[in-house]
Amino acid sequence: MPEIRRGLDLHKFLATRTEAVNRALDQSLPPAKTKPATIHKAMRYSLFAGGKRMRPALCLAAAQACGGAEKDALPLACAVECIHTYSLIHDDLPAMDDDDFRRGKPTNHKVFGEGIAILAGDALLTQAFELAAQCRKFPRYPHQTIILEIARAAGSLQLIAGQVADLEAEGKQIPGPELKFIHERKTSALLCCATRLGGMSANCPPGQLAALTRFGHHVGLAFQVIDDILDVTQTSEQLGKTAGKDVAEQKATYPAIVGLEESRKIAAQLTDQAFAALKIFKGRAVALEALAEFLLKRDR
Ligand code: IPE
Ligand code: IPE
Ligand code: MG
Ligand code: MG
Ligand code: MG
Repeated sequence: MPEIRRGLDLHKFLATRTEAVNRALDQSLPPAKTKPATIHKAMRYSLFAGGKRMRPALCLAAAQACGGAEKDALPLACAVECIHTYSLIHDDLPAMDDDDFRRGKPTNHKVFGEGIAILAGDALLTQAFELAAQCRKFPRYPHQTIILEIARAAGSLQLIAGQVADLEAEGKQIPGPELKFIHERKTSALLCCATRLGGMSANCPPGQLAALTRFGHHVGLAFQVIDDILDVTQTSEQLGKTAGKDVAEQKATYPAIVGLEESRKIAAQLTDQAFAALKIFKGRAVALEALAEFLLKRDR
């Protein structure tokens, strides 16, 4: 992968945006000592454990592609990261994937206990709506639209639907289209939402929003195919979470259904479809392009 893509240094882009997102998240969450300190410590523990911040990066890159100011997208980028982190805390619970490590550290419930981990997830989900409600007013996209966008991506028809179907598919042989249904919902919906919110924060016209939707959808699908591949090919140290868990738990994954090589092809095809969606930006979507390439080639 070229380090610098058409004048964009992705490494620098990610470093600066991660820093901005971390600062904004730190300012928006109650300090760790605020009573009841346990919950605020638990929220911050997972949020600042060292996630890759790919959803915020997509949100900010989408705002940039649409000619917006990234600072207007920042609260929405943070809101999506709060939802993502909540979904990971709950995903790791013994009643779900039962994982002991996340982001290179013991999982939230291992440190704080299951009760507090559930509540920390609940609190981060709620925090996301608090952040979104406080964003700037965008003429084409009033707060009602922004809130609806996030609620739908996180709700029982999308992220939760995917998590339910993921649990129900454990130990079963499911057909490819059913696996795609799961991936679209548990993962792609929130990545797509992050990308669309970036566009909305730039007050983008409907054509650009449609392009961002197509981009986010395909990048999101590729993201979960790669996540499934990495679970097989990488070590726990590399991933910061326990590798090989999908096979152990008999999860429905692309490598399990179509094999590693075919999974790699599918991820590359999906990424090509994502690139194709960016044509209308006529070269202004360099950060989105670089991110899609980075996400395909990532090793963690
Ligand atoms: C992991 O997401 C969960 C999936 C939806 C595949 P990430 O790979 O983005 O996790 P972090 O945020 O970097 O920890
Ligand atoms: C997680 O998918 C999706 C959500 C948390 C919504 P996975 O269960 O595959 O994610 P990891 O592998 O635990 O990060
Ligand atoms: Mg899971
Ligand atoms: Mg999991
Ligand atoms: Mg996984």
